[in-house]
Order: sequence, then structure tokens, then C-alpha cells
Amino acid sequence: MKHAPLYEALVKHTQNTKWSFHVPGHKNGLIFEKTANPFFQPVLPFDTTELRGLDDLHHPDGAILEAQQLLSSFYGVKKSYFLVGGSTSGNLAMILASFTQDDVVLVQRNCHKSVLNGLELAGVKPVFLSPEMDEEGGFTLGVHTHTIRKAIENFPQFKGIILTNPTYYGMQQDIIEIADVIHANGGIVLVDEAHGAHFGLKEMPESAIHRGADIVVQSAHKTLPALTMGAYLHVNSDRIEEYRLSQALQMVQSSSPSYLIMASLDLSRLYLESLSEKDINEIIQQTEEFRSFIDSLQHLHIVKTPVGYVLDPLKVTIQPDKDISGFVLQRMFEEEGLYTELADDRNVLFILPLGRINQLTELKEVFHKVSRKLSSFTNKEETIIPASQFPKISTLELSYIDMKKLSVKQALIEDAEGSIAAEGVIPYPPGIPLIAKGEKITSESIRLYLFLKEKGARFQGINEHKKMHVFDIE
Ligand SMILES: Cc1ncc(COP(=O)(O)O)c(C=O)c1O
Repeated sequence: MKHAPLYEALVKHTQNTKWSFHVPGHKNGLIFEKTANPFFQPVLPFDTTELRGLDDLHHPDGAILEAQQLLSSFYGVKKSYFLVGGSTSGNLAMILASFTQDDVVLVQRNCHKSVLNGLELAGVKPVFLSPEMDEEGGFTLGVHTHTIRKAIENFPQFKGIILTNPTYYGMQQDIIEIADVIHANGGIVLVDEAHGAHFGLKEMPESAIHRGADIVVQSAHKTLPALTMGAYLHVNSDRIEEYRLSQALQMVQSSSPSYLIMASLDLSRLYLESLSEKDINEIIQQTEEFRSFIDSLQHLHIVKTPVGYVLDPLKVTIQPDKDISGFVLQRMFEEEGLYTELADDRNVLFILPLGRINQLTELKEVFHKVSRKLSSFTNKEETIIPASQFPKISTLELSYIDMKKLSVKQALIEDAEGSIAAEGVIPYPPGIPLIAKGEKITSESIRLYLFLKEKGARFQGINEHKKMHVFDIE
């Protein structure tokens, strides 16, 4: 029978407990700021700790172990882990477990900042690989196998590759050929599949873990009904050392992992398992109807999926045919109470639910209203075909060890051309650094920053006076 062992252990515990003389301090919800009681009370008894019967994430041998085993058998992999620090913690742990100081690692450059932080913590030497660009969307895609072969030729001592697949916009590249090339040359394949936790369902695109990846990280909280910070890590090969991985997971995650998050991870797997083929077909049909509805509207259209990529059905990227940015369009939806995942200079990205869309008639009315509003804007001029902002194959200007020894100073980005960034400059979302720590600041990256800022992008790593940290090198 389908069940959720960790959730059930928590229910049993809440039924048996009378007194809490342990952490957390809210004592099963008894002590709490009363103004927030109506919202928090129902879940506080589940926010508990490693008590008898509730197992221990860092040494599982009971309910958590069983929940993780159910997860691995659902995804059809060798071993699965719950993560309570998001894909961020998974990316850090898989990198720390796979590589050591000075290892040369190939890295798809349009990666999330957590990948770069992982590289720095591990002290490796990254070789960045520039992705392909989507002409219509203007966003980055996957890395071409040619680029990878060239990088292997230049850096035959490499130890592995880190890919980000699918992209934030849901474009999935088949990595089977890449994985074969990497494995044939003695490397391992790590995939940040943060946006593909629902790829465990057979009706969805196939997870990279079944297309040659050795280890994959998925943010369950992004597309499954899991609490924020809940994520999964799957291992499917003997190339990853289990001991090193569990050590790394302990290093990067709390010693008091949230039982609420872990229970939601257990329940998300149960949710997936409980979806019938009919349910899933209805969800997919709903996504198709949503797309056709948008395409039927004036002034809005869906960005096409580029040749060679598979689109995640839950991701919908739309563009206006008027001369406004995605940021302005996003704001128009927000004024109607519709909050979207992200905007960029051209697009607005929607993540559709893995279930029914609520208040559909009202939702469609919002789209009609936005479409009518768009009529008053001037038409978009010819879109410029984007060039990748990253060099085909590149390395950092300094090693991470050398960066540690240097002092830093603040510089106005417009004056920083030629300096080396001491902190990433990161549009958020999507969290892909425009300039990574250790990279030389170029006139192109400055131009792109100013362009995106002017369009309305939000940035991390640079302040409101456009000042960023650079290394103080004479
Ligand atoms: C590609 C990618 N990887 C990793 C992350 C980090 O995920 P989390 O928020 O689960 O830590 C994100 C977050 O947006 C992401 O887009």
C-alpha cells in the first residue's frame, strides 16, 4: 500500500506526546506569538526534532530511511537523499563529494550561483563552457557537445562535468551523448536538475539520472508540492563514493533538519505516486490548453522550443509583441494579483501547477485585460539576435586559493573594466551570475548589466550605487 512513513511517524508522535522538554522552543506550538497562532498552530506540532521513532536525517535507520528508499525506488535510482537546504545544499554536497582541491572541472557557465559556490568551497579549477543561445527568447540553453569535446582536448586531466539541465525556462537537452563522452574520458557527470523534480513521472521529460548522469539534484519545492527548501538528491552510479557524499551532506546541512520540510518531501513522493495516468494526462492537456489560449490572444505569444530541446510542459515563457520589457509585462500581471516566476528583458516565465489551475475563468479574464492594455503600446522593433555573453571556453583569472589571500575594494561597475570580480554580479532570479567571482570584468558584461538594470532586473552582489567588490591588485 502506498504510504508516507515519515509523515505517519510524525502523526503517531503528535498523538503520543504530552510534554515537550526538548527543542524547538515553541514546545509543539504551546508557546508562540499569539497574533500568528491561526496560521502556525496547525503545523507547529510537526516541527519537531530527532526524538524516538522520528529517526535522524544524518544517520537514518527508521522512518527517514524508509522514506528515502521509497523515493529511490520511485525514481528508479540506486540511492536518494532528502535535502533540507534546497538544491543549493545538493549542489554544494555533490561537488564536495566528487572533486578535491585543484581538480579541473568542466562547468556549464549558465549555472546557478550555488554551483559556483561549490566550486570555490572545493577549491577546484573550473573550465567554463559557454552555452548555446535561444534566438527568440534571448536566454541561454545547454552546452553543445563540440564545446565539450574541445574542452576535453584542451584539458585532458579534467575530472568531470557539471551541467544545468533543464534550464530555468524548462528547455531540456538530451545529455546521453555528453555523458558517454565524459565517461569515456574518465570523468563523472553531475547534473543540477533543480527544475526537474517532476521528471520522475514517466509522462514528463526523462530525468538526466536515466540519461547518463551519475548524480542529480532536484528542487522538490520548485515543481512538486513540497515546502520551500525541500529538495532531492539521486545517485545512480558507483562513480560517486557514498561515504564522501554523506560526509558532505552533513557539512552543508543543519544538524537540526526541519521535520516539516522532510515530511513534505515524503508526501511529495506520495503525491507523485498517487497521480493516475488519467490525472497526469489531464495536467498535460491543461498545459496545452493554457498555451493555445495564450497564443490565441492579441499581443502575446509563447516562445517556441528550440530544435534539439524538449520543453518541460509546466514551463510557459511568454513575450509581448509590443515595445515593453518582460519586467513591465510581469508588473501588469501583478497588478491583477497574478504573480509569475520570473521576468527578463524579453520574457515572463510561468510555472504551471502539477494539478488543476484554480479560478480558470477569472484567470483568463486577467490575460484578456493585459492583452487589451498592451494595445496602447508601440510595436516591437526587430529583435536583436543575442550573442552569448560568455567566451566559448574560459578559466578564472585567479585560483580560489589566490583569491582568498587578496584584499578587496569597492568599484563603480562602469569604472571596473579589466578588474577581477571579488563577488558575483547576479540577476535574481534566475541566479545565474552575469559576472562570476574571479572573472575579469569586460566592457560587454558592464554593458549587459547596465542594459538589464535599466530594464528593471534585480541584482545581487552590487549595491544601489552600482558599486561592486573587486580584487585590489596593483
Ligand atoms: C538551476 C538552479 N539550481 C539551483 C538552484 C537553487 O535551488 P534552491 O532554491 O532549491 O536552493 C536554483 C534556484 O533557483 C536554480 O534555478
